[in-house]
Amino acid sequence: MNLELTGRFLGDATLGLFGAGHLGRAIAQGLLAAGLPKRRLAICRRGSIETDRALSDAGLAEVVASSEQVARRSRILLYLVRPQDYLAMQGLELRADCLVVSFMAGVPLQNLPANVAAAQRVRAMTSAPDTLRQRDGLAALYPADNPLTRELLASLHLKIVPLRRESDFHAFTALGPCLPIALTQWEGLGHEIDDAELRQTAERFELPDYDSILQWAHRVRPRRLSDAERKRYLAQAATPGGVTEAILHALTSGMNLSAALEQGIKRSRELAIG
Ligand SMILES: NC(=O)c1ccc[n+]([C@@H]2O[C@H](COP(=O)([O-])OP(=O)(O)OC[C@H]3O[C@@H](n4cnc5c(N)ncnc54)[C@H](OP(=O)(O)O)[C@@H]3O)[C@@H](O)[C@H]2O)c1
Repeated sequence: MNLELTGRFLGDATLGLFGAGHLGRAIAQGLLAAGLPKRRLAICRRGSIETDRALSDAGLAEVVASSEQVARRSRILLYLVRPQDYLAMQGLELRADCLVVSFMAGVPLQNLPANVAAAQRVRAMTSAPDTLRQRDGLAALYPADNPLTRELLASLHLKIVPLRRESDFHAFTALGPCLPIALTQWEGLGHEIDDAELRQTAERFELPDYDSILQWAHRVRPRRLSDAERKRYLAQAATPGGVTEAILHALTSGMNLSAALEQGIKRSRELAIG
């Protein structure tokens, strides 16, 4: 399997997913497809009926555990709750040697309510679940030199975009992972896409190698969707209260594409303050 480092690091422990929503389920399925044995995986949720049904449909019912069990047993913990719920694991006792990987938009590593040292905290920002299923997603990583997280993201077929500063996540989130969704909505509203304008916006926020991100967004964005299909596509990608939702709201209220993407950056910064 291509998760050798992860397997060795876990030993008898599990890889825990804290949060079983759109992204959590896609990551769990991707890790199993990459060869992680089911007995090494555990996933917890708050307890909504819809989530339990979706977990069952995804073949993940048998890896569901309580949040206490996930905290206690995991040596790698992927944190996948909404940014507004970033305190969800407060008070839970993690293993002292646990590596915590946060996938939350906005929220900085220092705000994680986890009893682990700074060196055991990593942030990743992936593209939406549909791109994971297509095996053509991207993910920013900070700090970028963490080999375990690199292996996990690579096993999900995510192209890794290393970030030099944690604050770069704000612009990356809006102008990278959110871009296919924003483009879909922009075209759905009847507008033309102007790549030159997008490049200029990315330059203002000092995002390197933007051409490859732009090409990726055009490659993965769905075409010729019916209204119902577009609605479903947007729902799986927009976490309520999150960055994508802010961009979609700005577009619907009449802003142009670049201005709407900047609203996403603003929303990410707001989430960082809490
Ligand atoms: N969706 C995307 O495209 C995407 C892309 C990149 C990054 N992200 C980031 O990924 C995170 C998750 O996004 P999402 O779209 O997957 O959100 P989501 O569908 O709303 O899922 C959030 C999950 O967190 C669980 N949860 C909330 N409080 C909990 C608690 N106290 N204990 C255990 N579980 C708890 C929820 O459980 P219940 O379902 O039982 O309520 C739910 O399963 C967000 O921070 C977002 O910024 C999302």
